[in-house]
Amino acid sequence: MKAIVTGHNRGLGAALVDHLLARGVAVLGISRRRRADIGGAMRPGLQEVVLDLADTGALLAWLAGPALPEFLGDDGPALLINNAGLLQPIGPAGSVDNAALALALSANTVAPLLLANAFVGATTGGRERRILHVSSGAARQPYPGWSAYCAAKAALDHHARAVAQDALPMLRIASVAPGVVDTGMQAEIRACSSTQFPLRDRFVAMQDAGQLSPPETAAGQLVDYLLGDAFGAEPVTDIRNLPA
Ligand SMILES: NC(=O)c1ccc[n+]([C@@H]2O[C@H](COP(=O)([O-])OP(=O)(O)OC[C@H]3O[C@@H](n4cnc5c(N)ncnc54)[C@H](OP(=O)(O)O)[C@@H]3O)[C@@H](O)[C@H]2O)c1
Repeated sequence: MKAIVTGHNRGLGAALVDHLLARGVAVLGISRRRRADIGGAMRPGLQEVVLDLADTGALLAWLAGPALPEFLGDDGPALLINNAGLLQPIGPAGSVDNAALALALSANTVAPLLLANAFVGATTGGRERRILHVSSGAARQPYPGWSAYCAAKAALDHHARAVAQDALPMLRIASVAPGVVDTGMQAEIRACSSTQFPLRDRFVAMQDAGQLSPPETAAGQLVDYLLGDAFGAEPVTDIRNLPA
């Protein structure tokens, strides 16, 4: 079994990779930096690609080359986890930089859809293939200051719904909100001003109350779901609703 995981070098993505490797799944990780570049341990079974997913031209060039089909090979189950994501730019509409907005949408929405399209194209021929989009509660609940992120994650949810309607052979897809996970992204939320993000104090209170999931716990639940029989029964779901 082989898996492509974006945003693999830290946070939830690093924990997803560790769970997959522990189950004997070979992983191709895609981020702007290698694990070792940020002090992480290299692991047998992990290959890494350094790529800025906000750079659509660079992603298209990589997808036009042989790396993806070469990694996937031509048989055996294949997985794609679109996990990389960023919250910035945070702030009310009209206040954020347009260039930052374009980069965020490229990384959060364009890249997952391009990867999904290429992955499905590269995995024909009767093999089992599964796509997990790491979504967010923000896809389903609007948050002030997060319009770019909310819209980007809602696009992933609806992409999963529509691809499920394609009913392609051996393809399952789900867009799953992972809950509130103790990663750099949460630290970034707490570092915002209340002007940028009026609900900041709610996230500070969640951390104070110990309500953030460790990345290893959330990742274990997501990998159990991804590899299990129930995966994709609902194209859009939340980690809190996954089967036990
Ligand atoms: N943490 C939460 O509470 C929470 C809640 C809901 C949803 N999520 C979602 O969960 C996923 C993982 O988030 P996290 O909390 O683990 O965030 P994180 O700690 O900030 O990690 C983000 C990951 O994405 C990669 N990444 C970011 N921009 C990239 C780019 N332009 N190109 C390639 N890789 C890029 C980062 O690596 P580099 O910086 O090296 O590129 C890193 O590996 C995201 O999709 C996020 O939206 C998180």
